[in-house]
Amino acid sequence: MISNLIILLVVIGLTVLFGWLTYRAVRARKLWVKIVGGLGAGLLTLLFAIVAFTGAKGIADTYFPSANPAPDLTVAGTPEQIARGEYLVNIACVGCHSQVGPDGNPTGEHPLSGGWNIAEAEGFGFIGDMVTENLTPGGKLAGYSDGELFRVLRYSIDQQGHELGMMSFLPYRELSNEDTEAIIAYLRLLPPAPTSGVTGDQMNFLGAVMSGAGMFGAPPSPAPAVITAPPQGVNAEYGKYVATFGECRGCHGPDATGAPATSVSPAIPNPRPLVNTLTVEQFAAMMRSGVKPNGQPFPETMPWQNASKMNDDDLAALYAYLTVAP
Ligand code: HEC
Ligand code: HEC
Repeated sequence: MISNLIILLVVIGLTVLFGWLTYRAVRARKLWVKIVGGLGAGLLTLLFAIVAFTGAKGIADTYFPSANPAPDLTVAGTPEQIARGEYLVNIACVGCHSQVGPDGNPTGEHPLSGGWNIAEAEGFGFIGDMVTENLTPGGKLAGYSDGELFRVLRYSIDQQGHELGMMSFLPYRELSNEDTEAIIAYLRLLPPAPTSGVTGDQMNFLGAVMSGAGMFGAPPSPAPAVITAPPQGVNAEYGKYVATFGECRGCHGPDATGAPATSVSPAIPNPRPLVNTLTVEQFAAMMRSGVKPNGQPFPETMPWQNASKMNDDDLAALYAYLTVAP
């Protein structure tokens, strides 16, 4: 943050400097100095002013977001909560937070010690680093209260009140209070594993400018304090909730009808036309094997492994959701 603030001050200084040079040029005696100098310095003033404004906005949004206070919460950790938490974490979190293998990518296996630089891996390392956190009690979460961990999942705000760059784009802010608490209960019981390397966000000034200019897509809408899940069942309503913790809606758009490209991700197709041609059994087989009925495997960019860990009822509910009109 300090280096970003210093760069911001330099850019503000340049804006003032070129503003002053513009003023001087316009008041010059010679006409050509008035025109060439005034125009050149004026354009540079405008350019630096825009960079300063968007950079300041990006820095303000990230480091000083309108943070909800962490709720006063103690998670009981009942056997039901722990079992539900295990189910959800192994679907929703393992893909990014599992330990990193020799190739630098998450292995999909426990321990959930994190360390994956998703910005670098996904080709947007030019905005800085975004490294997944150690979710076991061997990492920084040991120092988080249950309420602070709840606030991470519901509002994407860390202990210091800073916005979490990647988590804020994931759909976990729509999880029910019950499921959020179940996740917390389970994470607390993981065997502690050490953190290797630096984790978390290190956004650079370019990232701040791009974020301030809204180039990463719309900011997340504010989440309510209390969320109740629809009752479990094999129907489209619960299927939409499965598509939330299964992360499908995070990539395929809020209605799972596809999402346009942004400056940090390519366009994602609408899954519904294909799913509509399948039976529920074919759909479940595809999500468990990672191979489409025409024999084509899903590419690496489509994390079918999440869905492969869902039980039969949840996959059938997901199918029901994807086959009714959104
Ligand atoms: C798409 C990858 C991805 C998925 C999926 C994901 N995370 Fe994260 N998570 C990250 C990254 C990257 C960070 C580092 C901060 C940031 O950029 O948001 C992070 C940070 C965190 C943190 C640390 C917050 C802090 O205060 O520093 C917690 C806790 C967390 N994630 C929990 C979870 C849980 C629980 C799940 C599953 C429900 C989950 N994450 C799923 C990528 C992911
Ligand atoms: C990290 C982003 C991401 C997530 C999460 C994700 N998908 Fe995808 N999905 C993709 C991408 C990218 C493709 C296109 C791959 C390609 O180029 O063929 C895709 C393709 C598909 C297709 C094939 C579409 C077609 O016509 O070939 C289906 C079906 C699908 N996804 C369903 C799902 C479901 C169900 C979930 C949730 C369990 C899900 N996806 C989660 C990124 C994602």
